[in-house]
Amino acid sequence: MIIAGNFKANHTRASTAEYLSALDSLSDQKKEEDSIVIFPPFTALDNYNLKNIKIGAQNGYPAEKGSYTGEICLEALSEFDIDTILIGHSERRHILKEPQDFIVRKYEFFKRNNFNIFYCVGEPIEIRQKGIESVMNYIDKQLENIDVGYQNLVIAYEPVWAIGTGLTASVEDIEEVHKAIRERVETPILYGGSVNASNAADILNSSFVDGVLVGGASLVAEEFYKIIKASANIS
Ligand code: PGA
Repeated sequence: MIIAGNFKANHTRASTAEYLSALDSLSDQKKEEDSIVIFPPFTALDNYNLKNIKIGAQNGYPAEKGSYTGEICLEALSEFDIDTILIGHSERRHILKEPQDFIVRKYEFFKRNNFNIFYCVGEPIEIRQKGIESVMNYIDKQLENIDVGYQNLVIAYEPVWAIGTGLTASVEDIEEVHKAIRERVETPILYGGSVNASNAADILNSSFVDGVLVGGASLVAEEFYKIIKASANIS
């Protein structure tokens, strides 16, 4: 399983360092084959000395470096040995209005640089209400021109209506969509959207689920560790 935490614009440099040190020691008990990835804010990227946790970037501009005010490029990420990135998160698609062709450019750039790419897809509520066929048409558009055969790709299925809302998709809905995505890709498929310590075990035990991408419930190390424990069946 892949258990990933997306801090979004939460945590400072100091609190991230404290968090990572706490979570890293707790995670000594994690299952060998499970991987833990944390996406802290850019200001908290560093060369952390961690045994059990990998650090990724929440975003990146598709260039080595250059005149892209407010963006972070490859050179800056490489300083901290970052080789993992989130692309296509719904907050970037919807709040920051990132269009699919720009997302594809990012994907291509970071793929060329051998990054592990966590590529997010997911439908808004009005699409979900129309049923599975509309959901998959929507997701297919988000997969358009994305090389789904890329070996370092992880897909995160995150229904927009479930992100940060406390509404989680039902296990049946998750399995239905993941099964349909599985017909399109061979890479791991994570579920994201209001995953927490209480619902993690059910979600992680569902078919076609290879892990979770967690926002709100990843912010406190001890809480996030409960999700890691749910994956490892540690009580
Ligand atoms: P959430 O966020 O767990 O707070 O719903 C998930 C995400 O956006 O990755």
